Amino acid sequence: MNNRQLFLSHLAQTTDFPLMIEIEKAEGVYMYGPEGKRYLDLISGIGVSNVGHRHPKVLTAIQEQLDKYLHLMVYGEYVQSPQTKLAKALTDTLPEHLDNVYLVNSGSEAVEGALKLAKRYTNRREIISCINAYHGSSHGSLSVGGNEIFKRAYRPLLPGIKNVVYGSFHQLLEITTDTAAVIIETIQGEAGIKVACSNYFQALRKRCNETGTLLILDEIQAGFGRTGKFWAFEHFDIVPDILVCAKGMGGGMPIGAFVANREVMGVFKNNPLLGHITTFGGHPVSAAASLATIEVIQKENLLDQVEGKAELFKKLLKHPKIKGVRNKGLMMAVEFESFDVLKPIIDLAIDKGVITDWFLFCDDAMRIAPPLIITEEQIHEACAVILTAIDEVK
Ligand SMILES: Cc1ncc(COP(=O)(O)O)c(C=O)c1O
Repeated sequence: MNNRQLFLSHLAQTTDFPLMIEIEKAEGVYMYGPEGKRYLDLISGIGVSNVGHRHPKVLTAIQEQLDKYLHLMVYGEYVQSPQTKLAKALTDTLPEHLDNVYLVNSGSEAVEGALKLAKRYTNRREIISCINAYHGSSHGSLSVGGNEIFKRAYRPLLPGIKNVVYGSFHQLLEITTDTAAVIIETIQGEAGIKVACSNYFQALRKRCNETGTLLILDEIQAGFGRTGKFWAFEHFDIVPDILVCAKGMGGGMPIGAFVANREVMGVFKNNPLLGHITTFGGHPVSAAASLATIEVIQKENLLDQVEGKAELFKKLLKHPKIKGVRNKGLMMAVEFESFDVLKPIIDLAIDKGVITDWFLFCDDAMRIAPPLIITEEQIHEACAVILTAIDEVK
């Protein structure tokens, strides 16, 4: 059997129509198929390769760690320098009170930890999240997700979850002294890049303060430079009580984290002790890769370039079939009339070597979230292919 047959026979499928793009190597913004076919990756698989595929500094950090040790012990017991250095570097990017990092393996796990932490700390049970939010696929993270179609088949899920409209001032009144936490994507990703205004975030922060509710910001897609600030919440002049991140954090390696104040995080130590545990969380190789990723974003001034690159995409992506572009930095949604118009364009662009996608809860918009290292020349190349695909599609 060839690789494609093995994929279909022995790997669990999540749709009846997987993309089935076969990749042998990836470098920077490009991925290469078996016959050397080159793809320009405009989705960073998804929202992960912010520093590009196989960034040399990330590879060096991984190599150096491989020469020292792999897994040693479950999370939170041994002092491992890749974890301690990463926690310091992460907290250095954050407001002072976010000084304590819990390392996990993925976004969903970071959300799980954050929800448990909020319940324990506040001794409340209710969680508020947003309609069309995506926070992950595990039971807890799915419970706070905001799309009924994805939840229905898996009920019963966590009780005590209320969904509100992202950006609705009026619905902030749903947050009461019974609410343990509000979990919200700073920029809604899978809803098709929805950006609430600064006043909304201020009002949300104020309501959480008034009710003693913890504000959990999910920056699993929006963090690590994607929007042009290291953290998307920096655009809105607010700070969360708990921050969750993953995806771009590992520079291509699996890792996630939830970050809070030391006092808040302290509740995991007692009643019961070991209140949240993980075997592989903060794997030393992933932690080393993550530290290198932070350094690349900072030293290569990637943040300063995001807005200009996003503007170039918006300038070039002009076509009668494009209804508009929603974005925050390089987290972009290009709107079309419908999925039926969009899907053949995505397929043809892939044939022509440019990979885009749509969104879980927004199928009439094209997802563009390239590696932040993409050059202006590559943006021209990508947009030319997309525009040709729009023109050529039947
Ligand atoms: C905003 C957001 N939260 C959580 C998750 C879940 O992360 P993971 O797939 O690493 O579990 C995702 C993944 O797409 C996401 O976009």
